[in-house]
Amino acid sequence: MSAGLIGRSLIIAVDGPAASGKGTLAKRLATHFALPALDTGLLYRAVGQKMRDEGHDLDDATAATAIARRFEAAWLADERLRERLAGEAASRVAKVNPVREALRDFQQSFAHQPGGAVLDGRDIGTVIAPDADAKLWIDADVAVRAGRRFRELTSRGEAVTEADILADLVARDARDAPNMVIADDATRIDTSHLGIEEAFAAALAAVLKASGAQHG
Ligand code: C5P
Repeated sequence: MSAGLIGRSLIIAVDGPAASGKGTLAKRLATHFALPALDTGLLYRAVGQKMRDEGHDLDDATAATAIARRFEAAWLADERLRERLAGEAASRVAKVNPVREALRDFQQSFAHQPGGAVLDGRDIGTVIAPDADAKLWIDADVAVRAGRRFRELTSRGEAVTEADILADLVARDARDAPNMVIADDATRIDTSHLGIEEAFAAALAAVLKASGAQHG
């Protein structure tokens, strides 16, 4: 915990495309500031996974909305949410606006809990917590992101090729584009050529600068 931030609320928004490194950075920031963290992609993955489990067509907006409206935090513990198919299903349900609205309260309550929180996603700095003290936009070249996601999934035992993952990410970026709006006051960090420690140092510096500016 940094001296000077102790005792006050700190909301950190970490947005960016799939496999940009935002999840890792969000967790590191949460540990550093002793804040609770929420990976908001898991909410969409949970709705997508329920759609699969219940046998719905993933483009059935009515079914997706009904599932999102009965979302429960307990669904987030499902290990299958980390798998490739859950990510694909997530981006199909995430383009349905009523699904996004149904998941909004949970995220906003998490962000605005006493003391603050770190949330990573696509629209944290613009929709969920436009009042965040610090907003980061984390990006990387799509080929670099594909390499990272490929290593993550193969280390979990998934049989995938890097070419499949690259194709997934290109399709996912296009589908997610309407909900990936970079906040005007976000600090952009390109992690393509950064190791995790360098990326974390850049993220931490940006948070300290932004939150210092906010709080005076
Ligand atoms: O970040 P992650 O890959 O887990 O997100 C899965 C999908 O959920 C994204 O591709 C995106 O469609 C959706 N999502 C979103 N808004 C968020 C987080 C995730 O639309 N805040």
